[in-house]
Amino acid sequence: MRKEIERILLSEEQIKARVKELAAKLDEDYAGKQPLMVAILKGSVMFFADLLREMKIDVTLDFMAISSYGNGAKSSGEVKMIKDLDGKIEGKDVIIVEDIIDSGYTMRYLKHLLEARRPASIKLCALLDKPSRRETEIEIDYKGFEVEDEFVVGYGLDYAGLYRNIPYIGILKREIYE
Ligand code: IMP
Ligand code: MG
Repeated sequence: MRKEIERILLSEEQIKARVKELAAKLDEDYAGKQPLMVAILKGSVMFFADLLREMKIDVTLDFMAISSYGNGAKSSGEVKMIKDLDGKIEGKDVIIVEDIIDSGYTMRYLKHLLEARRPASIKLCALLDKPSRRETEIEIDYKGFEVEDEFVVGYGLDYAGLYRNIPYIGILKREIYE
């Protein structure tokens, strides 16, 4: 284990098993459809790639980058778009794939933005949910795991841009961000 990690919260095996279940559920719910999977960069890249690999239905992909955190471990509440989708979503079944829902502000902003473009449907698939930190109500249609109020990194999640390539999800030592 890396020295910056306090303890492993979700192992590679646990993540893999849950991702498989989520993919199976999406395959079932979207059978006969061809959803547009939207990855929210950069945190969801690992989850996105693994989820897609487990899905058997036809999908198309697009990417969007949003920033809300700056370099800190607490949400600034300020959300901005850094990269928009390449394509149109009107009439499409959109599935937003996000790493973690914390305060919920990022997703609220994103959902409003995308709903205004008149997709046929829009659902949220989030690997992690920190319900204790929620400040605005967000419905998570497909959820990987609920986590306690701890700052986690790995499997795409970062602190100040680092630790995204750790293959498991671990709790970051407080001394790193305090
Ligand atoms: P929200 O707008 O507060 O819901 O923040 C969501 C974003 O904050 C996520 O997409 C992550 O990028 C980041 N975030 C929230 N909690 C954590 C965490 O524990 N580790 C790493 N990033 C986090
Ligand atoms: Mg993010």
